[in-house]
Amino acid sequence: MKPLDVLMPAEGMGMIADLIAERLPLHRLWLEPDPDAWFAEWGPRIRAVAVSGPQPAIDADFMRRLPKLEIVASFGVGYDHVDTRRAGAHGVIVTHTPGVLDDEVADTAMALTIMAVRRLSQAERFLRAGQWLEGPFPLTTSLRGRTMGVLGLGRIGKAIARRAKSFGLEVVYHGRRAQTDVPYRFYASLIEMAQASDILMVAAPGGPETRHVVNAQVLSALGPRGVLVNIARGTLVDETALIEALRSGTILAAGLDVFENEPQVPAELIALENAVLLPHVGSASVETRRAMAECVLANLVAWSERNPPLTPVPETPWRGRWGHCVHDPADAQTQAGAGI
Ligand code: 8YV
Repeated sequence: MKPLDVLMPAEGMGMIADLIAERLPLHRLWLEPDPDAWFAEWGPRIRAVAVSGPQPAIDADFMRRLPKLEIVASFGVGYDHVDTRRAGAHGVIVTHTPGVLDDEVADTAMALTIMAVRRLSQAERFLRAGQWLEGPFPLTTSLRGRTMGVLGLGRIGKAIARRAKSFGLEVVYHGRRAQTDVPYRFYASLIEMAQASDILMVAAPGGPETRHVVNAQVLSALGPRGVLVNIARGTLVDETALIEALRSGTILAAGLDVFENEPQVPAELIALENAVLLPHVGSASVETRRAMAECVLANLVAWSERNPPLTPVPETPWRGRWGHCVHDPADAQTQAGAGI
């Protein structure tokens, strides 16, 4: 069996590369002094890519440079940085790391919710600034008697909903379709769910289909007691509309782990006292990140041993084929034209 040479385009968390390199030949593109020369020599031989984060995007241009590509193993449950349509059309399997991070991300989602509603970040800043000596921190609003509307009741959404229930919250949800086996009320309209909710919890996948679904109208439906929490992808929320809604009191507060243009966070958002801001740490514990890295490796090792991938994304299901890269002529021409 030929060894499965794996290309990692960017470093990300060192643990991922270290784990892969223990089992498979690994090419670290970020260490290559001349990436174009590397692609010219290795591009036609690489069958696997391991993706550590959103940069660089694994898009058509990137995949064109790897004509023998069979599998893209992506670190993380979200894979909006991988063009799965292009991959699927060329017989390339994309895998992600679902399941192992649900509880960690759901914990972070609840933390953001409580921090935003009870103004805990401000309270801590208040103490550290010595202001307690001058008087008590102002009373805040409460989580009691609130309804959480979950946008995207997938694995992570469900883990959040379970927690919210045990905190005494009413839970409702909106998604592409109603689910028959959940005890929560379904709203077919996001606006109507926002109207009925005090906390709008964003837990749906990113990508072009969900871009800016949380817009000015949705925020206005959430209303002046409303809190927006985003644990999913920054692209789901119109950040400019959110800043305006927080500034004007259209909504009460926001708890954000993700942003439209990470790691850039708009200065206007940083200046707002009613926004709790975290640097995309939803899954960022040693234990969970290790489990995610092991899931990336397990998919690659399975593939190298000609076993089915463990966690393919729904857009590129395993169909029992090995290394069937179906190339369309248009692409072949582009490759020839680009001299790749
Ligand atoms: C990771 C995430 O931080 O799983 C995801 O989709 O957003 C996070 O858990 C990210 O994938 C690492 O790049």
